[in-house]
Amino acid sequence: MKISRLIEQSKVGEKAQKDQFAIDVLTGLCATPKNLAAKYFYDDIGSEIFRNITQHKDYYPTRTEYEILDMVKQELPKIIDEETIDIIELGAGDGHKSQLIIDGFLNANRRVNFYPIDISEKAMLMLRDNIKTHDNLNIHGVVAEYFEGLRYVKERSNNKQLVLFLGSNIGNFDRVQNQGFLRKLWMSLSTSDHVMLGFDLKKDVSVLTAAYNDSSGHTKAFNLNLLTRINRELGGDFDTEKFQHFGVYSPTLGAMESYVLATEEQDVYISALERSFHFDAYEPIHLEYSFKFLKSDIDFLSQKTGFEVVAHFSDPKDYFADSLWKVVKGSDC
Ligand code: AVJ
Repeated sequence: MKISRLIEQSKVGEKAQKDQFAIDVLTGLCATPKNLAAKYFYDDIGSEIFRNITQHKDYYPTRTEYEILDMVKQELPKIIDEETIDIIELGAGDGHKSQLIIDGFLNANRRVNFYPIDISEKAMLMLRDNIKTHDNLNIHGVVAEYFEGLRYVKERSNNKQLVLFLGSNIGNFDRVQNQGFLRKLWMSLSTSDHVMLGFDLKKDVSVLTAAYNDSSGHTKAFNLNLLTRINRELGGDFDTEKFQHFGVYSPTLGAMESYVLATEEQDVYISALERSFHFDAYEPIHLEYSFKFLKSDIDFLSQKTGFEVVAHFSDPKDYFADSLWKVVKGSDC
């Protein structure tokens, strides 16, 4: 596997990333209500805790999506009938789901160029160990932001492309951000390229609530780890014992929301910001949205952003959908 690094791993680059983290924490903790951005969950420890969440019985999305992809993998080369295909995955994770899709094409005797794109070099190395080699498979990892990585691949290939954005990662974006993201994706691709997006579907609230409050406390640890990360990287003095995890469904937003609440009045000092932050008793910090969708929401989104739905693939309980879209140029929005 070849790896290309588009992100500079220099001291200057690291300093710039840390400054950005500090500014985002400052902005978030000065806001009312206080908030922190979900993208900061995924340091090395957070990524490890997230893997524990995905393997837990209460968290249905990962295994459900795996079942769906296992069922549809042989359909994909019939729909995308190309001798050679580029499969580009945004945020590839451990690669287990990618492997299913790759196998679908390899089993149909197609050639596959697999380009995982991830900002984490560590994630890329882990992925390398999990994808099986094959004569008709070329793997080229790109350590980059999603759209820089996409541009890099497009410049180097004339093959038809299938972009994967799985796991309902799109659910972290609000309704404005997800249209912006999908339009950028559309801009990066050509007519008849495809995208496959994972969407967590609306369902019984008790199932949702259980998934984001797992009985082993992984989700709690995942949320509190963000405070620990601030302590470590920005010299904060959060006492995680004085914060409680709270995961709740908002039916008006159609989203699960994660908060941590201060269980008593307190001040938290962050040395990189040279100031402290006051918390009232039971004051929340908003950490994450996980939007849930109806299939009609997915149809609407695709139409709004320049795609045509080829198929929604879902499980028998309709918990999750992987939706295959084709890029259409020149249509109305
Ligand atoms: C990685 C954004 C898909 O929203 O379900 C899991 C993250 N947060 N449990 C999700 C998450 C709490 C996950 N995504």
